[in-house]
Amino acid sequence: MSPTGSGAMGSGYGRHSAAQHAGLRAAGGMLDRALEAVPVPADGHAFRVADLGCASGTNAMEPMARTVAGVRARRPGTPVWVTHTDIPANDFGALFATLAGPSSYTRTPDVFGCAQARSFYEPLFPPGELHLAWCSIAVHWLSRVPLPIDGHIYGSRATGAARTGLRRQSAEDWAAFLGHRAAELAPGGQLVVVGGAATDDGLSGAEGLFDLAVDELDDLVARGALTREQLAVMTVPTWNRTTAEFVDPVVSGPFRDRFRLEEREFVVLDDPMWVRYDADGDLDAYASEVTASFMAAFGPSLFAGPAAVGPDVAQRFTDGLTTRVRNRPEHGVARWRIQLLRATRL
Ligand SMILES: C[S@@+](CC[C@H](N)C(=O)[O-])C[C@H]1O[C@@H](n2cnc3c(N)ncnc32)[C@H](O)[C@@H]1O
Repeated sequence: MSPTGSGAMGSGYGRHSAAQHAGLRAAGGMLDRALEAVPVPADGHAFRVADLGCASGTNAMEPMARTVAGVRARRPGTPVWVTHTDIPANDFGALFATLAGPSSYTRTPDVFGCAQARSFYEPLFPPGELHLAWCSIAVHWLSRVPLPIDGHIYGSRATGAARTGLRRQSAEDWAAFLGHRAAELAPGGQLVVVGGAATDDGLSGAEGLFDLAVDELDDLVARGALTREQLAVMTVPTWNRTTAEFVDPVVSGPFRDRFRLEEREFVVLDDPMWVRYDADGDLDAYASEVTASFMAAFGPSLFAGPAAVGPDVAQRFTDGLTTRVRNRPEHGVARWRIQLLRATRL
């Protein structure tokens, strides 16, 4: 299969990314320690930050504000320059609106935000330019899916050659990501990654929800709304890495001389939508929110990817998935696993 070009978030991502936001909260302490460790430039030179895989920027406002505060605590008045990056298909209009909005970190004097539309599996900055590279909930998106996943849309359900191909692609992509950041970070520069992760059994915590989605897609085929061929090429191009897949290349593999792994933490996130449903019992709200989150994160990959189906099919899918979540609420729960990593560029 060719590169999907998908992976971009849907227009509702900023409003429907509470789970991703919970992941970022877990990383706050690690970001603070990165800001204590990083060399801050002197003589009025700018502190350069990359926010890699920014989407609409909503979830970047807090960590970037924290970054500005951390840098200024070390060296008051230091200019801070943040480059938000994502793939060209990202909604950069939404990012610029967030940057211009009332809760933007750029409202602080001498703080600058800009954007670049290029994959983080490619070079993004001149050598040695960056002081901090921040990447949250984005490196599980692969540059390509080598083979269709037979009978499913989700990598952790892949078997045989499709599974082997995804694992290999994930290793290549992670190596490309680390290699480019190793070149771009200045000595002492900090890399902080909040990565979509899996336990050693390969599971990400959202398999039940993806199974419901596949049941609904199969039903759309049975009812003639979708062809078998369209379903066969529908894939969410992600791979949630195990701890070893994240850590080995840094600790004992090709990047052991370029990075020092300072800390790592494996976290299983609560599902904020389930927590709310548990408290208020509002099943309709829960089912709608689970589906909206699913569509915001994965709808573009499924419906605007190689299957190229119309918006009417996406709407039927949305309605059907909402009903399925309402009927089996516990299957809609996603207790995402994330890997927090902090490494110093040597
Ligand atoms: C789940 S969103 C996370 C957004 C934000 N960082 C957050 O924490 O909410 C994943 C983002 O990664 C982006 N992405 C996927 N593949 C990418 C790549 N190869 N290079 C850069 N960004 C990528 C997607 O377009 C999307 O905006």
